[in-house]
Amino acid sequence: MKFTGDSKKALKYFLSRKWKALVFIAALSFLVAFFESLATFAIYPILSLMAPETAGRGRNPYLDAIMAWIAGYSSASPLHTAVALLLGLTVVKLLLSYGNILLTWVTANKIYQETQIRMMSSLLNADYQFLLGAQKGDLAYRVLTAPGYVSKMTNVIPMIAVEVLKTLMIVTMLFLISTWVTFFLIIIAALYFIMARYVARNVSYGTGSGRAKSASNQSVYAMNALKGIKTIRLFGVAKFWSELFARECRNFYAFARKDATITGIPGMLLELVFVSFLCFLALYFSSGGGNFLSNMPLIGVFAYSLLKIMPSLKAVSGYGMEIMANLPHAEAAYHAIEESECHRADIGGREQLEAFHGLMRIKDVSFLYTSSDKPAIKNINIEIGRGRFVGIIGPSGSGKTTLLDLLGGLLKATSGEILIDGKPIDSFGPESLSKHIGYVGQEPFFFNDTIRNNVLFGRKDPGGDAVRQALRKADVLEFVESLPEGLNFVIADDGMKMSGGQRQRISIARALLQNPEILLLDEATSALDHKTEEKIIETIIKIVKEEGNTVIFVTHRKSAIQMADQVIEMRDGQVLPFPEGVRI
Ligand SMILES: Nc1ncnc2c1ncn2[C@@H]1O[C@H](COP(=O)(O)OP(=O)(O)O)[C@@H](O)[C@H]1O
Ligand SMILES: [Mg+2]
Repeated sequence: MKFTGDSKKALKYFLSRKWKALVFIAALSFLVAFFESLATFAIYPILSLMAPETAGRGRNPYLDAIMAWIAGYSSASPLHTAVALLLGLTVVKLLLSYGNILLTWVTANKIYQETQIRMMSSLLNADYQFLLGAQKGDLAYRVLTAPGYVSKMTNVIPMIAVEVLKTLMIVTMLFLISTWVTFFLIIIAALYFIMARYVARNVSYGTGSGRAKSASNQSVYAMNALKGIKTIRLFGVAKFWSELFARECRNFYAFARKDATITGIPGMLLELVFVSFLCFLALYFSSGGGNFLSNMPLIGVFAYSLLKIMPSLKAVSGYGMEIMANLPHAEAAYHAIEESECHRADIGGREQLEAFHGLMRIKDVSFLYTSSDKPAIKNINIEIGRGRFVGIIGPSGSGKTTLLDLLGGLLKATSGEILIDGKPIDSFGPESLSKHIGYVGQEPFFFNDTIRNNVLFGRKDPGGDAVRQALRKADVLEFVESLPEGLNFVIADDGMKMSGGQRQRISIARALLQNPEILLLDEATSALDHKTEEKIIETIIKIVKEEGNTVIFVTHRKSAIQMADQVIEMRDGQVLPFPEGVRI
């Protein structure tokens, strides 16, 4: 795999938000590199002053100039000056470098945090159909895990800058001292970089992609398994699910291991070449190639520089490989943000729905799921007046849920329109709609919190006795009060601690809390026994009549239909002109 256009877009997306900090980091990196190089060369005066009188003098104009400056500054104790210079430069460099590391860390982790927050919010506001088509576990990976890798990547980019600048400066200074030795070093470094680049592009990116895929699958399997735990246990297939998950963990490990084994090789080779080079210098001088003592300060500077450059070179290519390995995660995160941003549900509708006064019209509405080629709703025309109790019946798969989701503004009609008091439903923002529309589904949803908070469901507490009233209307107050903590009883995820009927009634209470003008019930009473269902429907009818609200409910029960003012019978996505066997 190559560095694709998408990776560039992803990098640009994440980095551009913090460009000011990054410019500052770049400037700071330059200073760190500069002082680091100076501090490296500050070893020369010390070595030179420790060596015999004439050692190394008169060979290099730059080094001689430094020596002359030190001698001029303090002729009594030049060595002290040289030591102070080295220490001073090192301290400055360390302080700058510390600041730079902190700033880089803060920037990278802000990118992490902000990416997670932005991602969660755009997913929660994304178009419902987009979310229907996505794997929840994959989305969880993109929100929770992938941004961490984005931050790892952004953390090392400035570090690369420091190391590259440092290396360039040290090499430049070495160049001023000895052309041919430096030239030789540059060739080694260039060969090394070509090798590291090859590994980064051909190994790291590939293993990174593999890891990203495995991390996403792990999340998908874990979420599926936990969601379906009851069925999994009753079918005795826990082993199968553990194995699915384990396979992805092993894949992840295998990719990581491949990465770890191969990425270390260029660094080892580099070290070997450098050490060989030093050995060669030593042999060269000791075999009479030159006077070792007189060359000692120069060799010292080279050796010291090499010691500084080598980790830098290793770090640069190591970081390079790390970036390539983390890039696939960044791309995944970027794609999720991009997709959910361009599928935002609240684009368009900005109008506020004040109240539902009279009529809901469904005009020539058809709906096709993007993943399907057969429309779920075909050319439906219905009028629903305020204060009506409307029953929808029809066999499974006939489009009842889809119709309700369209009426709730969750799905958008493929053609035709839904008008509320003459205004298209799309012209209202989703939040504005949901203030007036209540909904109870087939499978009640609960989160890990008290019954009170599950009824309030993130909305403002209307105060007073509202929560109890809602529970009473849904005929579940008695049950709630029989619990040891009453309203403060904590419901486990998905309401596992309650019976189906109790769960349905609590979610009915949730919908009744704000006394919605339009109440959508999608087989909301299916888990209740006949008597309870009748009682709740009677309560709902009473509320409807008192407040003049509208209820649209999907049911399989003929008895419930008998109480309706209006009956809609669906078949194959269409409305039958005359509902069978019920009064109209
Ligand atoms: N998310 C979806 N993607 C594609 N097709 C869907 C989706 N949900 C439902 N359908 C299809 O749309 C049709 C109507 O489904 P639905 O409205 O759930 O029916 P009902 O509630 O009456 O049982 C069915 O043929 C079903 O297969
Ligand atoms: Mg349904």
